[in-house]
Amino acid sequence: MKIAFIGYGNVGAPLADHLQRLGHQVTLAAKNPESDSVQKAQAINPALQVAEPLQAVSEASVIFLATPFQVASEALQQVQAALKGKIVVDCTNPVGAGLTHGLNNTQSGSEYLQAFIPNTALVKAFTIYGFENFQDNHFLNSSSKPAMLYCGNNKAAKETVGQLIEQLGWQALDTGELNQALHLEHMTLLWIKMVRLQGRSPHLVWAALER
Ligand SMILES: NC(=O)c1ccc[n+]([C@@H]2O[C@H](COP(=O)([O-])OP(=O)(O)OC[C@H]3O[C@@H](n4cnc5c(N)ncnc54)[C@H](OP(=O)(O)O)[C@@H]3O)[C@@H](O)[C@H]2O)c1
Repeated sequence: MKIAFIGYGNVGAPLADHLQRLGHQVTLAAKNPESDSVQKAQAINPALQVAEPLQAVSEASVIFLATPFQVASEALQQVQAALKGKIVVDCTNPVGAGLTHGLNNTQSGSEYLQAFIPNTALVKAFTIYGFENFQDNHFLNSSSKPAMLYCGNNKAAKETVGQLIEQLGWQALDTGELNQALHLEHMTLLWIKMVRLQGRSPHLVWAALER
């Protein structure tokens, strides 16, 4: 699959790395191919390709968005001409002051972004944990896989993203339509408070048991 990354810092770089090693053609969308974040991502995996943003997005069928939420619309605006019909994996979280919801719980960040790019199929995924788990999600002594919860309105897009989630070693747990994104964003805040404030392991993840 051809995959482009808009944003490849703590979150985007390890996901791009693993997806390339799984056999996908992964391109970093870069206004500046010499930037620190391009160089750091390529130092981890030199096989990551780099292209100007519009070209990277035009050639991909799946676009990972992993910028700070505050600049996500601006980053999407720059490639809007090439986004029509694409799957956008929204890895962003709107986090406000004092670890509150950045849009005051009125709307999820993902619904806000989907409204900004209505001709795409946006799927929220890879948000509910810290980046350490995107670097490494192996739990040697566990019989269950860690769960990755995701949501979106487009069934086919969710199937594709669900396959990528599974390939990356997670149990893909489809939580429903995009109106579930607000709840996933609160799960993120829960995780951040438990780990970054209360000092639990950054490799804290959830697993789903169902009968
Ligand atoms: N950190 C976590 O543990 C974590 C976990 C889950 C989800 N998230 C969410 O994931 C997103 C990324 O977080 P992160 O920790 O990976 O951030 P980060 O390490 O700061 O990386 C941000 C990336 O976005 C790029 N970027 C910044 N401004 C941009 C713009 N205007 N246009 C295009 N690209 C731009 C940066 O490129 P340059 O460096 O070249 O500017 C960098 O590659 C955030 O929305 C965050 O809430 C974070």
